Amino acid sequence: ITPQRPRLTVLGTGYLGATHAVSMAELGYDVLGVDVDEAKIGKLADGQVPFHEPGLDELLQRNLATGRLRFTTDYAEAARFGDVHFVCVGTPQKKGSLAADLRYVEAAVVSVVKNIHGRALIVGKSTVPVGTAEWVEELIAKHAPEHAEIEVAWNPEFLREGFAVEDTLRPDRLVFGVKTEWAKEMLDKTYRGVYELAAAEDREVPVVVTDFATAELVKVSANSFLATKISFINAMSEVCEAAGADVTQLARAIGYDLRIGNRFLRAGVGFGGGCLPKDIRAFRARAEELGVGAALNFLSEVDEINLRRRQRVVDLAAELVGGSLAGKQVAVLGAAFKPNSDDVRDSPALAVARKVHDAGASVVVYDPEGNENARRDLPEVSYAASLDEAAKGAEVVLVLTEWEEFRHADPVALADVVNATRIVDGRNCLDPELWRAANWEYRGLGRP
Ligand code: UGA
Repeated sequence: ITPQRPRLTVLGTGYLGATHAVSMAELGYDVLGVDVDEAKIGKLADGQVPFHEPGLDELLQRNLATGRLRFTTDYAEAARFGDVHFVCVGTPQKKGSLAADLRYVEAAVVSVVKNIHGRALIVGKSTVPVGTAEWVEELIAKHAPEHAEIEVAWNPEFLREGFAVEDTLRPDRLVFGVKTEWAKEMLDKTYRGVYELAAAEDREVPVVVTDFATAELVKVSANSFLATKISFINAMSEVCEAAGADVTQLARAIGYDLRIGNRFLRAGVGFGGGCLPKDIRAFRARAEELGVGAALNFLSEVDEINLRRRQRVVDLAAELVGGSLAGKQVAVLGAAFKPNSDDVRDSPALAVARKVHDAGASVVVYDPEGNENARRDLPEVSYAASLDEAAKGAEVVLVLTEWEEFRHADPVALADVVNATRIVDGRNCLDPELWRAANWEYRGLGRP
């Protein structure tokens, strides 16, 4: 039985799952979102997105109202409802190791398949070590009722926070890791809405149909490439600092070469978030297991370059205040790992705030959306409700997340608020001339 319009479940309603569930409902599918977290399911069912993602609230509410989108904590219900089950649970870094923790994948798969009695497709979307899809097949063989016909496919997700809905409705490409024609056919039916939207807009969505291992690797290699690109430009930043060159102009100049491209070449305090840092570490751990650790040694350099930039900001701040941060008041602008997000996971901004605090400074953080999450992770520092409040009395200001609000801050007005006009632009998002003209001592990363 291959239904024309498969009914979808989304197992795990975090960032990826909630966005996927809402977007697929928006495309006209009947979708059931499933999570073990009752509070989260309660909120979603009530029309509230539990994280900050522009535009998602409205789409959630609209699709709840049509009845196409529902949420539950009941895996048995999910098993009865779905033809296609998307696995969207988290794969965090294991404590005390670089590897990915697959316990949530296991729990989600087992909980759903043991209740499936007909035919169904389990589609992995979570970022996982290569080999996971094969292991999921084994789990199914062990836990599914005997008469159930369950297949596996791997379909990695490439969405960016802040553009999550857009990336889901209008993906650059789709990747299907499949073993059978039926699995491919089911995925085509599942994504027909995406194909139709593209056709209506005169676009094409390239689809790469491949094996499990390749599909799994596409995801981690894409994120590794992106992380490498950022660390490459940040390594150039280090060299520029020693040579008296300007990395922002260098990036612009090399980026005109289409083979290099100008995107993801913004030098600064480096990458963070729930994906790039943990993904490159887990990839290294998996390569070690596969006996090809040497192939990915460069990723440990990528990680180290990235972490060194955090210390560089702290050193610049110390230099500006005369050598030691002890007893100084420091304003930290930004806590989220990037603008338009309230996500502080592995955030360079918060890591710097922590280091500055540890150096004995009194730190006041302000982030337009991230204060609440930041306070949970770093309760030792103070939080301000506005940029001005954070900057009040500061000996040095650090800009660590490039929110529009900070880009457009007025250096003249801010000079009246601070105790000393010194600023470290950790994202190279300010105009140095403008700030220097207003009598600020300005330091960027990789800039003279
Ligand atoms: C990243 C990938 O871009 C997505 O394609 C992928 O699907 C996602 O991870 C995932 O695996 O789920 P995301 O974590 O939302 O998406 O954030 P990015 O926009 O990639 O930014 C990552 C970090 O790199 C941020 O801290 C950002 O400030 C930093 N960055 C980015 C730079 O420092 N310089 C740049 O030029 C670009």
